Amino acid sequence: MTLIDPYQRTINYLRLSITDQCNLRCRYCQPHGRAANRTRRLLRDREIMFLAQQAIDLGVEKIRITGGEPLVRSGVIRLLSELRALEGLQHLVLTTNGLLLSRYAPDLAAAGVKRINVSIDSLRHERFREITRGGSLVEWCRGIDAAEKAGLTVKLNVVVMAGVNDDEVVDFVRFASQRDWTVRFIEYMPFAGDHYKAMDEQVLHERLDRAGFSLAPLPSGKVAGPAREYAVAGRAGKVGFISARSCPFCQQCNRLRVTAYGEGRGCLFSTEGINVRPALEAFDCELLKDQLMQLASQKPQQYVSLDRGEQVVMSAIGG
Ligand code: GTP
Ligand code: 5AD
Ligand code: SF4
Repeated sequence: MTLIDPYQRTINYLRLSITDQCNLRCRYCQPHGRAANRTRRLLRDREIMFLAQQAIDLGVEKIRITGGEPLVRSGVIRLLSELRALEGLQHLVLTTNGLLLSRYAPDLAAAGVKRINVSIDSLRHERFREITRGGSLVEWCRGIDAAEKAGLTVKLNVVVMAGVNDDEVVDFVRFASQRDWTVRFIEYMPFAGDHYKAMDEQVLHERLDRAGFSLAPLPSGKVAGPAREYAVAGRAGKVGFISARSCPFCQQCNRLRVTAYGEGRGCLFSTEGINVRPALEAFDCELLKDQLMQLASQKPQQYVSLDRGEQVVMSAIGG
């Protein structure tokens, strides 16, 4: 079975948030310094498993576990091992801020997670602390070393904000290239109000070019995310750009989302969704599949606005 939306986009990628809590409070993600209020219980492991299984039956091949910070959920490794064992799931991947990787990287590898995306917005201690409101770059580095040792493939996610960290672009490419990793430069999205100035992608290209990093476009895969990726001539590693505002990728959108409380969303910027929680609590296959199909059929052709208003934080939706 295949989920196809009204614009002929095939849905094969599910982003599943397993907690809205986070051990950091990055300024661009939580501009008001508050995480989402925890109002109800999170979906239980067995509800998440049921959801994943039904989505796979509908053609989902890739599940990305997100948060908040997914590694703060208790029992996360057991949940990941169980998800990994689901028949038909080809890619189980995770997006993390990296701070808990020193503890969990070997367990992630043992659970069968091979690829992780790790956020990093500055390689300078003071700046890292400032952006994350108190996070430790030393801890992040320990985590990333543990990930490397455990053999995980890493993509770095850098949200680039003019005048905040745009001067580190070349450093990031060097850092990723030394490890044969991918670094993706994410255009700041004014998700909860417009608090930063996004960087023009062309300017980043020019800076990299001037520093001797020449980029050659790469084709994107069938279950790819929103990044446009490039090889770096003569060097290891890749560079990607995720530019939702200046270069929207909605035409290739292949994903649905479900929040940690069971709210399904057709788009990161949808203001309304479908509550799949009752279907999960009742383990009702038919209702759930019906609701997932409805979510696909309600997917907008493109987002209307990138700004969801001051009340929403991205960690509540899973990015
Ligand atoms: P890959 O599967 O490795 O390509 O990762 P991904 O880019 O799909 O996921 P990740 O969690 O690493 O997200 C990277 C950035 O892309 C974050 O800033 C997300 O908020 C953003 N992103 C992911 N999916 C969407 C989407 O559907 N729309 C928009 N506008 N941004 C998205
Ligand atoms: N704009 C762009 N990316 C964002 N992220 C969080 N908030 C924003 C924003 N306003 C990113 C994080 C993480 C991913 C899940 O979403 O840096 O890499
Ligand atoms: Fe920062 Fe990610 Fe936590 Fe948001 S969810 S505060 S981006 S680490």
